[in-house]
Amino acid sequence: MTGALQPAAEAAERPVSPAAGKPLLVATGLQKSFGGVQAVRDISLSVPEGTVFAVIGPNGAGKSTMLNLMSGHYQPDAGTLHFDGIAMVGVPAHVRVRHGIARTFQKIRLFKQLSALENVLAAFHTRHAIPAWQYVFHAGAFRRDVERCRTEAVELLSFVGLKHRIHVTAGALSYGEQRMLEIARALATAPRLLMIDEPAAGLNNAEVDALLERIVELRMRHITIILVEHNMDLVMKVADRILVMDYGQYLFEGTPAEVQSHPGVIAAYLGDESP
Ligand SMILES: Nc1ncnc2c1ncn2[C@@H]1O[C@H](COP(=O)(O)OP(=O)(O)OP(=O)(O)O)[C@@H](O)[C@H]1O
Ligand SMILES: [Mg+2]
Repeated sequence: MTGALQPAAEAAERPVSPAAGKPLLVATGLQKSFGGVQAVRDISLSVPEGTVFAVIGPNGAGKSTMLNLMSGHYQPDAGTLHFDGIAMVGVPAHVRVRHGIARTFQKIRLFKQLSALENVLAAFHTRHAIPAWQYVFHAGAFRRDVERCRTEAVELLSFVGLKHRIHVTAGALSYGEQRMLEIARALATAPRLLMIDEPAAGLNNAEVDALLERIVELRMRHITIILVEHNMDLVMKVADRILVMDYGQYLFEGTPAEVQSHPGVIAAYLGDESP
């Protein structure tokens, strides 16, 4: 289908991000191989604070590997990575969360037997006001902490459209609802940077529209977003800038309008779709 990269009318009309600030995440020369596969080859990027930065490319292009490098789930073979000026290479994922980096996974990772509310509450442990070992001695503070977390968790679930589903077990939620629950869980860590890996996969049109609205709202709240996504309509409507990868390599970076008219990008997608 050649329509995948057709310009979305909204893309041309979208104003330049009013929130765009200093670079929040900066990567230079990132490399990652798995055995003989060079999943990421010499990728550099700079994501301005308060913007939506999309990473697109055909299957196997290295998008998720890039996300794993930025979140700390993988460490690079070479290259540098700075978050708000702090060197991140070698810093494990759970520490990066405390710096304000959160993510969702392409393959949903939820506690399927727990309710939506419990799933979000479980994500709060990264920022409890008092360390867990002190709860024994500070029962009052513990109760207040739990109450505060619960209130915030319900707010987050409302934000992602799951207010009426908070007591449903995650495994019983629809696929689209599970994806939104993943976003609520990531938001529970109070991130400055939220990275979402194919959030629209498996969503129906109405759910994609709702997702788009939430991304726009998060951007308005000055949360920086890195969006890995195959749904070009969503990407073109919501991204400020787009990095295109192919075979682990940089192919192009630009605005949605520039990406849509770039011959190399179109060729990569048509190549991907030819029989
Ligand atoms: N843990 C791993 N072990 C071995 N190979 C891997 C691993 N992770 C990724 N790869 C390989 O690295 C390459 C890039 O994979 P990656 O998952 O980053 O692509 P992607 O752009 O996210 O693709 P998709 O759009 O299908 O999700 C692929 O060839 C993949 O098989
Ligand atoms: Mg992927």
